[in-house]
Amino acid sequence: MIIYFSGTGNSKLVAEKLSVLMKERVHNIEDGAPPIIYEQEILILVAPLYFWTLPSIVLSYLAEHEYLNIKELHVLMTCGGALGAGATLITKQLSGLGYDKAYIHALVMTTNYIPLHNVQSPDMAAKAIQTALNKLPDIAEDIRQKRSAKTSPILGMGLSIARRMYDKARHTQHFYTTNLCIGCGLCERSCPSHAIRLIENRPKWIKAKCTLCLRCLHHCPVVAIEYGKSTVGKDRYHPEKFFSKNN
Ligand SMILES: Cc1cc2nc3c(=O)[nH]c(=O)nc-3n(C[C@H](O)[C@H](O)[C@H](O)COP(=O)(O)O)c2cc1C
Ligand code: SF4
Ligand code: SF4
Repeated sequence: MIIYFSGTGNSKLVAEKLSVLMKERVHNIEDGAPPIIYEQEILILVAPLYFWTLPSIVLSYLAEHEYLNIKELHVLMTCGGALGAGATLITKQLSGLGYDKAYIHALVMTTNYIPLHNVQSPDMAAKAIQTALNKLPDIAEDIRQKRSAKTSPILGMGLSIARRMYDKARHTQHFYTTNLCIGCGLCERSCPSHAIRLIENRPKWIKAKCTLCLRCLHHCPVVAIEYGKSTVGKDRYHPEKFFSKNN
């Protein structure tokens, strides 16, 4: 059984391809509680890497469905740059939730974190994604053989530093809309944290923090959502536009 979370599509694509490759069922955590998992099934989680750690929405889901931890857990993180010390940090996070046997894997795809970086051109991103997908058979074998990704060494304080950085970044006060907004409500409907409400036809962030998936920002049809000053004038990430063509 593959359970996944995907903010902007990379992890969804990987979860679906891996499901075909490994003949495992696939379940989006936004669709609610996982179906019953059978004794003989492998449990795999696919999610994007956020600040070298798991997205808050995934941690909450695992905590809420704590019975999942009777299984060994294979975690496949999609990322834009590198796993870095992620394997150590995520192992620590999972151990806090009772997952004593976790195997961490990573797949470098392309970044959607435009507060810090630029998205790649569609051609470059399509190539990067194809390269990543070509590695899936090896990852499937690593999962079957219970081989974990290598991790960079990290100081004992590493996890709390990474979480503090993420917690600071995911304050919704960073988000605002410009006059381009047409009040279509897509951001409200698609936010996995239910953090946006349309009030008088304009989105308002009604929760202090969200999971920071950036779906609202990338998918707004008129590019009306910004995150501080750092996203102004930058291209948005629309992987679905080139997934179907090339993958
Ligand atoms: C809040 C946030 C933090 C991120 N942090 C990292 C990171 O620490 N390292 C990295 O390589 N990529 C990072 N990324 C990039 C994503 O992990 C990457 O683009 C991922 O494949 C997106 O998956 P998705 O399309 O399924 O949401 C970050 C993205 C977001 C939105
Ligand atoms: S998706 Fe964009 S245009 Fe639609 S309501 Fe949200 S900000 Fe406005
Ligand atoms: S407010 Fe935007 S970035 Fe935050 S969880 Fe919702 S869709 Fe994702």
